[in-house]
Amino acid sequence: MFAKFHSIGAYAPSNVLSNADLEKMVDTSDEWILKRTGIRERRIANSDEVTSDMGAIASKIAIKRAKLEPQDIDLIVCATVTPDYFNMPSTACIIADKLGVRDVQAFDISAACSGFVYGLSVAKAFIESGMKKHVLVIGAEKFSSIVDYRDRTTCILFGDGAGACVISATEDRSEAIIDVNASADGSYADFLVTPAPGSVNPLTQKVLDEGLNFVKMRGNETFKLAVKTLTKDVRDILKKNGINSSDIDHFIPHQANYRIIKAVGDALKMTERQVVLTIQKYGNTSAASIPMAINDIYEAGRLKRGELMLLDTFGGGLTWASAILPFGGD
Ligand code: COA
Repeated sequence: MFAKFHSIGAYAPSNVLSNADLEKMVDTSDEWILKRTGIRERRIANSDEVTSDMGAIASKIAIKRAKLEPQDIDLIVCATVTPDYFNMPSTACIIADKLGVRDVQAFDISAACSGFVYGLSVAKAFIESGMKKHVLVIGAEKFSSIVDYRDRTTCILFGDGAGACVISATEDRSEAIIDVNASADGSYADFLVTPAPGSVNPLTQKVLDEGLNFVKMRGNETFKLAVKTLTKDVRDILKKNGINSSDIDHFIPHQANYRIIKAVGDALKMTERQVVLTIQKYGNTSAASIPMAINDIYEAGRLKRGELMLLDTFGGGLTWASAILPFGGD
């Protein structure tokens, strides 16, 4: 049995936070943000709109496009670092309820921006082993809930949103996901961290006063490591599978910084036509970044059945992951 990428869906909240808006909040400028990151604006969820709401909307679209019913889904995997609840229940369980699905295996994955591609590796393994037939993989983030809008080094980067896909069993090898590689190196754990709440820093007034509940990042070091890791990761997966970068129809990297994407794309000799960019309008939406980008080219009519996608991502942990797969939808 093989696993195919059957359909895609996404959701972006309607509220736009522009660089001009950020200029009023912190000491920054539209020019600095655009030049250093490529970001013009990002979407921010309403206060009553939570991660599972966005994930459920994206999921409904993906399930419909796969011409399935929610009840056909036998595994729900939600990648997020901004779950509805810190400990339990998982956001995947809440999404299952919002889809009206009962008695289904559902759990979250915590691999930061790499979470969606980690989820694909889980879906592929469950399907190839014959345990599941239709797996819903979601990347959903209300990243604004862990961003300190007084910290100009992080608040300019991140946005909210969700993307989801259905991975289905197939006997046709030509439409199968070719390979997924997911990896991590915990020795870089302090590059990107939300220090609280957790067993290291349980929630106290002091923790809140010190802002330890907000994301902290060693930006410049993360940047350099991202370029190196993303490039090596793609070279390795292409070589392993005997595929050239010119065979790829759509190179869909994690949307963290235009300069990272440009450096990696150039090193891999990807043309402008191959590289998918959504950073300018969504910023970095963490685990939602890649499925939102896939959905973008799908809705623009640029993603056709059988076309080869190369996914490449990098995030807190540190984690990284890549995948080569044909689009198996209509
Ligand atoms: N507006 C204006 N100035 C800013 C600023 C902002 N929003 N943020 C930082 N600066 C300043 C710094 O304080 C520093 O000033 P100094 O030279 O007086 O000390 C200067 O700009 C350069 O800072 P630096 O951090 O070296 O800039 P950079 O070129 O590395 O760009 C990032 C900063 C965050 C845009 C970049 O490092 C980045 O994108 N890193 C990767 C982040 C990432 O991908 N994270 C998620 C991984 S999934």
